[in-house]
Amino acid sequence: MGTTVSLLAPAKVNLTLDIKGPRPDGYHELETIMHQVNLVDTVHLRRLTDGIEVSTDSPLVPGDSDNLAYRAAVEFFQATGIAGGVDIHIEKHIPVGAGLAGGSTDAAAVIKGLNRLYAAGLDIKDQMALGARIGSDIPFCILGGTALARGRGEILTPLSPARNLLMVLAKPGYSVSTREVYARYDQGKVTRRPDTGGVEAALASGNLAGACAGMENVLETVTLECCPEVALLKQMMTDLGAVKALMSGSGPTVFGIFLQREVAEAACAIINRYYEEVFIVTSFERG
Ligand code: C5P
Repeated sequence: MGTTVSLLAPAKVNLTLDIKGPRPDGYHELETIMHQVNLVDTVHLRRLTDGIEVSTDSPLVPGDSDNLAYRAAVEFFQATGIAGGVDIHIEKHIPVGAGLAGGSTDAAAVIKGLNRLYAAGLDIKDQMALGARIGSDIPFCILGGTALARGRGEILTPLSPARNLLMVLAKPGYSVSTREVYARYDQGKVTRRPDTGGVEAALASGNLAGACAGMENVLETVTLECCPEVALLKQMMTDLGAVKALMSGSGPTVFGIFLQREVAEAACAIINRYYEEVFIVTSFERG
């Protein structure tokens, strides 16, 4: 058994996000296609005899027990009964409070990494179940790739898009609280819903135009009310050549899908004059 392990922790975007209704547990019943992109944090783990330490290179991320990565380590040691500890260092590149699952992907990497570091033998289902106890996006971040998520987000069906997606991501200079966005969600205000089945089929056959036609995110209705820049960014992306522009998760990050790298690069450079956090990404390739 080694004493250190480093993992890449990719961000996700929601290609579709639909809410089927409220749940008795206070959460919302989701139907969302999640897709990992190659904007990544790096999570370094080092075995300790006991205790959990968390540090990051970002002043915006808590370096204590508020960090989801810390909670993931607590859950791992409790669930496995292993006596040990870990020093976690997170190199942060994914924007925080952005709708890109930045905190969830770090927590997922901690679960996967600890499983390796301590040869705990948890299979992927065990790891996903452990992750679900900490956050709704964590099971997907453990599974990776592209998947349809239902339930709170933990019921996952893997999908295989037939082609790589090229995107520009842009985040306005503020963050939103996922909890608040869901709390203010009012299905009476929704005018456009995604065609989840249509997007799934179009992705599988490599029909990008068909996939884009069915992509929608019902949470835009909430976030747009407080963050008009989301609408502005969507318009900018489209004006600059995106074939589709949509908010990811609870926002406020907007992604634009592009067909040509030169067009995406030009769009990225222009948006970057107004917004600091702008990235060109493609689908995350595992391995
Ligand atoms: O599960 P997680 O803590 O990441 O979710 C953050 C917040 O988002 C929850 O507190 C809840 O208010 C909301 N949420 C929801 N329905 C979901 C997922 C998240 O209402 N399926």
